[in-house]
Amino acid sequence: MNKHQILAEYASYFTGTPLLVNAPGRINLIGEHTDYNHGFVMPAAIDKSMFLAMNKSGKPNTVKVRSSDYDQDETFNLGASSRPFNSWRSYIQAILQELEARSKSLSGFNCVFGSDIPVGAGMSSSAALCCGFISGMNGLFNWELSKLEIAQIAQAAEHRIGAHVGLMDQFAVMHGKKDHVIQLDCLDHSYEYIPLELKDHSLVLINSNVKHELVDSEYNDRRVSCEKALNQLQQLRPEINTLRDVNMADLQNADFLHPTDLKRVQFVLHENHRVKQMSKALKQSRFQEAGELLYQSHWGLSQEYQVSCPELDLLVDLTKQEQGVLGARMMGGGFGGCSINLVRHDELDNTILRIMEQYEQQTNITPESYMVSIEDGVKLIEE
Ligand code: GLA
Repeated sequence: MNKHQILAEYASYFTGTPLLVNAPGRINLIGEHTDYNHGFVMPAAIDKSMFLAMNKSGKPNTVKVRSSDYDQDETFNLGASSRPFNSWRSYIQAILQELEARSKSLSGFNCVFGSDIPVGAGMSSSAALCCGFISGMNGLFNWELSKLEIAQIAQAAEHRIGAHVGLMDQFAVMHGKKDHVIQLDCLDHSYEYIPLELKDHSLVLINSNVKHELVDSEYNDRRVSCEKALNQLQQLRPEINTLRDVNMADLQNADFLHPTDLKRVQFVLHENHRVKQMSKALKQSRFQEAGELLYQSHWGLSQEYQVSCPELDLLVDLTKQEQGVLGARMMGGGFGGCSINLVRHDELDNTILRIMEQYEQQTNITPESYMVSIEDGVKLIEE
């Protein structure tokens, strides 16, 4: 769905010249499930994105939204009590409620949106929708919200619908910078842009095309497990504020932790460390090491944090027979979606093809692959 199609569709449903917003999806190179544990992450915005055309309607209370991809329309009444919406509608309703709770003044408007970010692939199509929609309203109603504030409102909207996500996706969607990954400290939101100069290598995503049920409940369960462990560790050593203040010596004395919670904490500690190692490896073009870090991260996500699934494990295992792959891991929340692979340019197509063929043979699921380029975050486009 490109911007011309969205503008044309807007013109066929509504009048006036709309504001156009481009909101990208994101990848995450490393640092998974660390964001809500006040740790480190390394995401980037990508060239798969959503366009939203939005304009005030002159009506006081009515918000009309059309999803071009789903060919669905909905009317939301500002100030009305909530209804049991699902899919994209629930995000829009949650955003409107969140803005109302923050006393933002707004009036009726229309929106048409469409995207080429695959849904359920772990590329944050929901963060693109929420951040894009709020950014558009920010433009229409001159609220002058910062990128961080928009990211936080988008996160709060996800919490309203029961997904207790961290801030990584929204932050990346808002702050993305072309050809750079963002090393973000999720404790104080300080960040550094690291140039992604992969030389003879590319990042390739392979979509397992699996999306397990119960993703949200499993995700929330991991969060609860970490919070429980943190509380218990704070009783041991009150100076601990977040999991990143925990060291390996603390864990050696932590036989009061449930073994499952202990594994989760160990993963978070190691994953935070891996983000810092990745940062050094990238700056010094040590790609072999970068690949190794991806494999280590996957092992931890699969065995310690237990958010992988057989299909993602298979996708990663298949790469180990391939000379051209330096490293791979599952990406995002888990239980399905994509793997991210660091692959040598020469033989890239054949390598990915072989992995995909074997995956299909063994699972009967047809995977997809995407070469992604790293792009800027949300943009308002003046036509
Ligand atoms: C999802 C969440 C993020 C983050 C990742 C796992 O994408 O939205 O906040 O927790 O999972 O790293």
